[in-house]
Amino acid sequence: MTNTNTPLALVTGAAKRIGAAIATELHDEGYNIAIHFHMSRHEAYELATVLNDKRAASAFTVEQDLSHESAAKNLIDKLLQQSRRLDLLVNNASIFKSSSGINSGNVSELWDQMQTINLRTPYLLAIEAASLLRKSKGSIINITDINAERPREDYTAYCASKAGLVSISRSLAIDLAPEIRVNCVAPGAILWASSEDSHTQKEAINSTPLQRIGKPSDIAQAVRYLAGAQYVTGHILNVDGGRILRG
Ligand SMILES: NC(=O)c1ccc[n+]([C@@H]2O[C@H](COP(=O)([O-])OP(=O)(O)OC[C@H]3O[C@@H](n4cnc5c(N)ncnc54)[C@H](OP(=O)(O)O)[C@@H]3O)[C@@H](O)[C@H]2O)c1
Repeated sequence: MTNTNTPLALVTGAAKRIGAAIATELHDEGYNIAIHFHMSRHEAYELATVLNDKRAASAFTVEQDLSHESAAKNLIDKLLQQSRRLDLLVNNASIFKSSSGINSGNVSELWDQMQTINLRTPYLLAIEAASLLRKSKGSIINITDINAERPREDYTAYCASKAGLVSISRSLAIDLAPEIRVNCVAPGAILWASSEDSHTQKEAINSTPLQRIGKPSDIAQAVRYLAGAQYVTGHILNVDGGRILRG
C-alpha cells in the first residue's frame, strides 16, 4: 500500500517512451504513481524501482491488457488492491497502426482493435475511476494526437479513435463536473514509431514551424500543467511545435 496522504496518479502504458516520462514528471511533482503496463513488464518494474529509490513506497506496477472486454474494471480493481485513493488518471496507452489492412482484408479487425484500446477502454476507465476521482476532486488527462483534427493519410482508424477520445473528453468535462476536470494533451511528432521511415520523419519536421520534433518531457510538462490547472476543463492542449497550423 502507498501512503494514503499522497495523491496517486494512474498512468496507462507507463513503462516506457512518453508514458514513462509522464510518470516520472508526475512523481517529481509529488504524486505516487501506479505504473500500468501490458507487455513491458521489465521496463515497468525498472521504472518502479527508480521511483521507489527516489521516494520509498511511492510507485507500484499494474498489469492489464486494455483490449479485454472488462479491462477497465479489472484495472481499477487491481489498483484498489494497492491504493485506496486515485487523484489523476492519464490515459496514455495506445496503438498506432496504418489502415493499410484495407488491402489485406483485416480492416474490421484493425478498426475494432484501435477503437477498443484507444477509445472504448479509456472511456470506460474514466467511468470506473469516477467515484474515486470524485472523492479526491481529481482529474483525467487523455493523450490524443493533433491528427484527431487533421487527417493523416492511411491512418483513418487511428485518427478516428483519437477524434473520438477528444469528443469523449469534452463530454466528460461536462458530465463529471464540477468535481472532476477532464482535459487532453495532443502531441505532434515526439518519438518516431517503427513504421515511420526517414522520408516521413523529414516531411514531419519540414511541416513543423519550430523545425524539430518534440521530446517526451514536453508532453510530460503539459500533463503536469493540466493536472494542477484547477480552472481548466474540456481543454485540448496541442504540444506540436505549431504543426497543426500546416496541412
Ligand atoms: N510518439 C509520438 O510522437 C506521438 C504522437 C502523437 C500522439 N502520441 C500519443 O501519445 C501517447 C504515447 O505515445 P507513445 O508513442 O509513447 O506510445 P506507444 O509507445 O505506441 O504505446 C504506449 C503504450 O501503450 C501500451 N499498450 C498498447 N497496447 C496495449 C494493450 N492492448 N493493453 C495495454 N497497454 C497497451 C503499451 O504498453 P506495453 O509496452 O506495456 O505493452 C505501450 O508501451 C499515445 O497515446 C499516442 O497516441 C504519440
